[in-house]
Amino acid sequence: QSLKIGLIPADGIGKEVIPAARRVLEAIGSDIPKPEFVPLLAGWEVFVRSGTALPEETVEALRECDGALFGAVSSPSRRVTGYSSPIVALRKELDLYANVRPVISVAANPEEKPAVDLVVVRENTECLYVKQEQLVPTENGKEARATRLITERASRRIGKMAFEIALGRPRKVWLPSSLPRIIVVEILNLFARKIQQVTIIHKSNVLSVTDGLFRETIRQVPADANGRYDSVKLEEQIVDSAVYRLFREPQIYDVMVAPNLYGDIISDAAAALVGSLGLVPSVNAGDKFIMGEPVHGSAPDIEGKGIANPIAAIRSAALMIRHMGYTNGADRIDRAVDQVVREGQVLTPDLGGKSSTDDVLNAVLKKL
Ligand code: NAI
Ligand code: MG
Repeated sequence: QSLKIGLIPADGIGKEVIPAARRVLEAIGSDIPKPEFVPLLAGWEVFVRSGTALPEETVEALRECDGALFGAVSSPSRRVTGYSSPIVALRKELDLYANVRPVISVAANPEEKPAVDLVVVRENTECLYVKQEQLVPTENGKEARATRLITERASRRIGKMAFEIALGRPRKVWLPSSLPRIIVVEILNLFARKIQQVTIIHKSNVLSVTDGLFRETIRQVPADANGRYDSVKLEEQIVDSAVYRLFREPQIYDVMVAPNLYGDIISDAAAALVGSLGLVPSVNAGDKFIMGEPVHGSAPDIEGKGIANPIAAIRSAALMIRHMGYTNGADRIDRAVDQVVREGQVLTPDLGGKSSTDDVLNAVLKKL
């Protein structure tokens, strides 16, 4: 049995970091079925050459794969006829209804709690991003309108995804390193599940119909789950104060679940809490398919220099296999990456180092 993975480096540094992620998946051995890689095209460069940013062959080939890794696309700064983002199209074609972004800082000491350790779960298919916009001329000038769609179905499935992710994060109880940690830690860990938490992000005080439906539907998820989510605490937070608190006390969050627009903004804001964009992974997830994607873009300013940080792509590969259920393999990759970051000897310039993409890759492979 093998694991068939589509590789779509796409543009710019995508072509430098996706091969690194591939090498890491090849190196983890029996923790996953033997990976088989299928190189595929998408993005701005293929659009310029062929007139389409997402060739039909790519979509067809992906339907035969177990998962995929996507690099980054460059988007034209002006509107170009016929061009539309392949990543948006792929989310739709493969029904990747959730964008999942763990934002975790690396503590100086492996025994210490990371300052930031949260996951943003963003609904990926509706809200204002259904792109139903109208420009209406009126007596007083133009009027622009947009439709905001929130459905019970999409809210329920994103809610379930958030609870499942919370269940999959058995959070350890962290003690100050001066305390003796023998039996105490073990006993406290028995209660650790209590810390699992889902926070619904909304603005139903103002948008009581749309955000109201999102909130009510997710509140209903644990009630309909026969006790499966009993260990997960449900919280809610209005989006504006959620951002404020995210910056002041990120440790209060575990899993944050949000409609598309708020989720888009919060997940970029959260990424800022851990330094470089070159560190933060994501996956686009559906019930049948999973696609890893570093959060950063194609970084034209450093393209071709061999200094792109491969860690976001490597962590995206880990996150992809984690969602497929290969927890051991994912843990091993994350631990290797954390060690390299913590030691601080081999880092790319975005983290203040002088090393190359290959140096970082090799350091991670050595830890593995
Ligand atoms: P960007 O993420 O490409 O770069 C922002 C800054 O971060 C740059 O200075 C870049 O050098 C640095 N950076 C990003 N990733 C890095 C890495 N792995 N290692 C070291 N440094 C890294 O965002 P920007 O410049 O706004 O956009 C560039 C292009 O990428 C645009 O065409 C944009 O549309 C596209 N983009 C694509 C995304 C995607 O494919 N999902 C997401 C964001 C932007
Ligand atoms: Mg964004």
